[in-house]
Amino acid sequence: MRNIVVLTGAGISAESGLATFRGPDGLWEGHRVEDVATPEAFARDPGLVQQFYDARRVRLGEVEPNAAHVALARLDSEWPGELLIITQNVDDLHERAGAKRLLHMHGELASGWCLACSSRFPWSGSMADGAGNQCPRCGLFGQVRPDIVWFGEMPYEMDRIEEALSHCDLFASIGTSGAVYPAAGFVQTARYCGAHTVEINLEPSQGSLFFDERRYGPAGEEVPKWVDELLA
Ligand code: APR
Repeated sequence: MRNIVVLTGAGISAESGLATFRGPDGLWEGHRVEDVATPEAFARDPGLVQQFYDARRVRLGEVEPNAAHVALARLDSEWPGELLIITQNVDDLHERAGAKRLLHMHGELASGWCLACSSRFPWSGSMADGAGNQCPRCGLFGQVRPDIVWFGEMPYEMDRIEEALSHCDLFASIGTSGAVYPAAGFVQTARYCGAHTVEINLEPSQGSLFFDERRYGPAGEEVPKWVDELLA
């Protein structure tokens, strides 16, 4: 076995103290997707959308990577074959743990996107604050939106993802409910192309039947065990 693709979702950051989306206390319990996570919502009420992401960006500074992020970073640095970690998460906990072979398919809280000049750049402050919302490239005010893939928008780097899925030997899905496509369908592509498929989650996901191997428990315990086995 040489080539590994790992898909992660909100469950891997839960033990760091970041809310997942679905289920009790989930982000989508307190907010309607249609109000804060679509291009239409942003066009209708940009202030509300900016405040939702500002609060999540502030929260990033209060949390730390957990044992699951650290284990995946170790896999990244020690795995001799190809590896790609695809995260649906917009937090920066994988990179803060040290992961390098990483791709944010749903964008990043720590990134801004200027609607006026189309450039993307690192972002750490508020976007809701009009005086602070200035594009560092073109200088216009009020044009920077969160660099987040909203419902109805195309995830990033799908070509690279499809390529990696088509020739991986092992596909692992960690901490995701399997409710949102296209990520929910990656297991089927990988399996069709011959990969062994593993699910690591607190509970069976919506696509659990597509996995050859299932490991249920907290990511902070299950991921380090799995990585130890791979690197043994
Ligand atoms: N360890 C492992 N799994 C966990 C843990 C934990 N400590 N805590 C929760 N989980 C599991 C839950 O059981 C659930 O199956 O993580 C999963 C989280 O699912 P979601 O909240 O649906 O998050 P995710 O799958 O990442 O959502 C996908 O939906 O709204 C969009 O764009 C958003 O990227 C997100 C996408």
